[in-house]
Amino acid sequence: MNKSEVIRNTVKFVQKTLANAEGGHDWFHIERVYKNAKLITKRENADLFIVKLGALLHDIADYKFHNGDESKGPEIAAEFLKTQDVSDQDTAHIIKIIENVSFKGGNEKQIFNSIELKIVQDADRLDALGAIGIARTFNYGGFKGRALYDPRIEPNLNMTKEQYKASTAPTINHFYEKLLLLKDLMNTETGQKIAEERHRFMENYLHQFYREWEGLA
Ligand code: NI
Repeated sequence: MNKSEVIRNTVKFVQKTLANAEGGHDWFHIERVYKNAKLITKRENADLFIVKLGALLHDIADYKFHNGDESKGPEIAAEFLKTQDVSDQDTAHIIKIIENVSFKGGNEKQIFNSIELKIVQDADRLDALGAIGIARTFNYGGFKGRALYDPRIEPNLNMTKEQYKASTAPTINHFYEKLLLLKDLMNTETGQKIAEERHRFMENYLHQFYREWEGLA
């Protein structure tokens, strides 16, 4: 089995596994992250095979959809990679990427690091920003039955990881609790540049949102 075969098999496996996933965490999210990751890798000295597999498998069982269970994703990915021609060393690295890529909120510290993780993390964060980021955020809020906005409920910037996971706050608060913080967390120059553009777009969006909320033309 050569590397492109492994990638093809992984694409098929992910498409099948995520066939019924929520709209912001479905195969198309993975595909966008995969494309972002390949784009970022062009300007970095990184192992593209690891980046690709990390991007493809990063949300194979997102804790948000598995009762907060964070071990499910790495487990399913490890099981799958065993059926492919991927060395133990590469598998271990990919699992570390999956374990560390997601922003859990709160004041959680990240222990593991590698350029491949940094790239997948940036690629995933970019998909939480801009027009797509907005669409995904409201889709997830709807999925959770959250209000769009409630001016009486202030964003909470000091949540613990558990509070962040259990939050039922209106969707607009999520912009302040996560999305608008992402541009300062980007790891790579390419990621940073794209994030800044998407950040500006979201600021304009929020500006317009409040104008319309207040009944201003
Ligand atoms: Ni993701």
